[in-house]
Amino acid sequence: MANHAVLYLLFVVEIFPKGLTDVIQTQQTVMVKVGEDVHLSCQLMQTKDVLQVTWQKDLPEGKKNIATYSEHYGQTVNPGFQDKVEFKDAGLKNCSIVIRKVMEQDEGCYLCLFNTFPDGSLTGRTCLHLYELHEPILQIRESNSTEETVVSCSATGRPAPTVTLNVPQQDLYFSNSSTVSVTNTNATVTVTTTAVLSGFRGNDAQVGCAARLLSVPEIQVFKTIPAVNQSSDDETGSDKNFISIVASFTAVVVSVFVFTVLLHKHKNRSFQLSTQMRLQTPQDENQKEEKTE
Ligand SMILES: *[C@@H]1O[C@H](CO)[C@@H](O)[C@H](O)[C@H]1NC(C)=O
Ligand SMILES: *[C@@H]1O[C@H](CO)[C@@H](O)[C@H](O)[C@H]1NC(C)=O
Ligand SMILES: *[C@@H]1O[C@H](CO)[C@@H](O)[C@H](O)[C@H]1NC(C)=O
Ligand SMILES: *[C@@H]1O[C@H](CO)[C@@H](O)[C@H](O)[C@H]1NC(C)=O
Ligand SMILES: *[C@@H]1O[C@H](CO)[C@@H](O)[C@H](O)[C@H]1NC(C)=O
Repeated sequence: MANHAVLYLLFVVEIFPKGLTDVIQTQQTVMVKVGEDVHLSCQLMQTKDVLQVTWQKDLPEGKKNIATYSEHYGQTVNPGFQDKVEFKDAGLKNCSIVIRKVMEQDEGCYLCLFNTFPDGSLTGRTCLHLYELHEPILQIRESNSTEETVVSCSATGRPAPTVTLNVPQQDLYFSNSSTVSVTNTNATVTVTTTAVLSGFRGNDAQVGCAARLLSVPEIQVFKTIPAVNQSSDDETGSDKNFISIVASFTAVVVSVFVFTVLLHKHKNRSFQLSTQMRLQTPQDENQKEEKTE
């Protein structure tokens, strides 16, 4: 008998909240990014005579009225929430509000109350969780050893994100991975993961970094390590220099040779010419004398 009573109690406890959530349909938790707008909605699933819908914030010190909607008074947003909250769809069956530019102080649970006659109020509850996730910063540092490159990635978020380095190429792998977390003054956490990329042989390589946080879409960034075969670049550079030096040297040698040959020929010819002239000169003078006569 006692066992039966316990089972019956468990059955009642199990079924009771389900019955409540069936009456009002709403999201139990909403993840919202800092600074964005969030839409909270409640839908009454049963036909009831609703007099008014009230939105409240469930604070530790008590429930605080945010806004009300009734056919008689229309939409009313209480002072203190007027810059923050507005109705999106105001109705006695469907009722939704928008919270603008969500900040830390807006985090918490919100209630929608359908005040019905004669059943009293039916309440839906939605809890707002804030998150912040910034794009990860991926840095690549070359280590002294050409075969190893140090890769580090850091992402800032709230709550603390997980930061994962990845490399799509199969011959490359990360080793000696370490993670450091630093809590910032605004309650965000900067997580930095550093690892050594091994097997990098100078060809282009792509490394990726993913920042994840709860069920929020992850943010991935990629960076390409350019082909850094420094020594081979230098070799081809010096090869080119060597070729050009050889080429200019050859050119100089050839020019000097040609010049020498020409000069030699020229000297010979001028010697011949001068001897010819010397031999010819008296004859010429004679010819001139002959002409004048
Ligand atoms: C309430 O909202 C739901 C979904 O948003 C919609 O399907 C339904 O028709 C709405 N009902 C009324 C009475 O506006
Ligand atoms: C890298 O090499 C330089 C000089 O060759 C040395 O001073 C430095 O400590 C080395 N760094 C590492 C991390 O081994
Ligand atoms: C990894 O760390 C160990 C010890 O901390 C060190 O001996 C080893 O050389 C490191 N390996 C790489 C690839 O840096
Ligand atoms: C919180 O601090 C981090 C690190 O200082 C910064 O990157 C981030 O933008 C800050 N977040 C807000 C909402 O101010
Ligand atoms: C540079 O490239 C050449 C061939 O392309 C290769 O033989 C050599 O090992 C490479 N050097 C480094 C440091 O990767």
